Amino acid sequence: MDRRDKKTGKEFKPETLALGYGYDPFLSEGSVKPPVFLTSTFQFRNAEEGQRHFELAYKLRPPRVSEVPGLIYSRLNNPNLEIFERRVAAWDGTDEGAVFASGMAAITTLAWALLRPGDVVLSTQPIYGGTHFFLEHILPEFQIQNRFVPANGDVPAALREAAAEFGAERIRMILVETPANPSNVLVDLQAVGAVAGEIHAASGKPCYFAVDNTFLGPIFQKPAAFGADFVIYSATKFLGGHSDLIAGVVTGSTAGMDIVKVYRTILGTMANPFTGWLLLRSLETVSVRMRRQAKSAMKLAQLLASHPKVKNVYYPGLLAPESPEYAIYTNQCTGPGSLIAFEVDGGIAGAQRVLNAFEVARLAVSLGGTESLVEHPMTMTHSDVPPEQLASIGVSPGLIRMSVGLEHYKDLKRDVLGALEAL
Ligand SMILES: Cc1ncc(COP(=O)(O)O)c(C=O)c1O
Repeated sequence: MDRRDKKTGKEFKPETLALGYGYDPFLSEGSVKPPVFLTSTFQFRNAEEGQRHFELAYKLRPPRVSEVPGLIYSRLNNPNLEIFERRVAAWDGTDEGAVFASGMAAITTLAWALLRPGDVVLSTQPIYGGTHFFLEHILPEFQIQNRFVPANGDVPAALREAAAEFGAERIRMILVETPANPSNVLVDLQAVGAVAGEIHAASGKPCYFAVDNTFLGPIFQKPAAFGADFVIYSATKFLGGHSDLIAGVVTGSTAGMDIVKVYRTILGTMANPFTGWLLLRSLETVSVRMRRQAKSAMKLAQLLASHPKVKNVYYPGLLAPESPEYAIYTNQCTGPGSLIAFEVDGGIAGAQRVLNAFEVARLAVSLGGTESLVEHPMTMTHSDVPPEQLASIGVSPGLIRMSVGLEHYKDLKRDVLGALEAL
């Protein structure tokens, strides 16, 4: 199956592509589902074929008409990874994807591919803790500087100010995570994309715009449509969707992904074939899962917002039409997702009483799986953020984060109400 309908030339919808695109059953005994290609290496028919495969893989010459790159070695290419990469790129509306051993492998490989000593990265805060650590502690060891701009402020103005301070020619990457974790603050992708364009125009050097789309993508947010050069995922979350694998993804243009794939090959940060196979299985249901999870999350967020023991609820589906974030939401998101943050009275002790009283939702970090999870950002996922920064990124002692799963809504509702009784 091709990306486009042979008769009309129209592109198939991602839901359809997720079931057939990029895989020829007759290369695998007619198997309707791709088998697991659990092999490290691929046999060549003859030495000339091996030479041709390497020439294309290493871009030693352009491909001839209807010549396609062949399989060589699973660190370079493997059918399970390639099929998944094509399908996830179709979801994002990008040319190509690359799948990695983890979300952090995706982020760090992208950084090694694009950044050089002397470069500056501008990133929104809050951002996932591992990414935060990499930007703040590891990149500086390589003379690459990071500057955080608050996601809840005027992000375009702060980016322009930083570009003026460092000089446009040094700003090599703008990295945005939206909605931000755990506060669900939204960053305006279109406005940030415009700033990346201005910086590029001013310096004549690339200013890459990368978006971590883990929370809403690929169903409810498509950053490439708003100017993102690279779309990043922790595929451990919704793409994998069953809390049974660790993986990451980057998608983008062919030119951009060519650079990223060279670094993945040399750093060896690719996912293994079985993970690729699991991701293929999961991608078939990602739309159904994310929509159903968001439906339950919306109802739970409304329930929490009307509960006397809940002080605040942070959820894109509850934004007031007059708030500036609502305009961002309606422009760039097609659904609210299934992560809710809510604040209870009683500080850490109050939040812990509530967390300990959940029966259906499991007390664990991570998100996006079929099961509901609850956690306490201040003492768990965000415990390494300096205390003086916690309030400014919306992490208060009473804040609880819930990832809503596929359990029956009535059980989830009883669970949430029962847990709040513990206060
Ligand atoms: C938004 C976001 N990006 C990246 C990561 C890192 O992904 P992984 O744990 O798959 O390495 C996470 C993990 O929680 C995340 O939440």
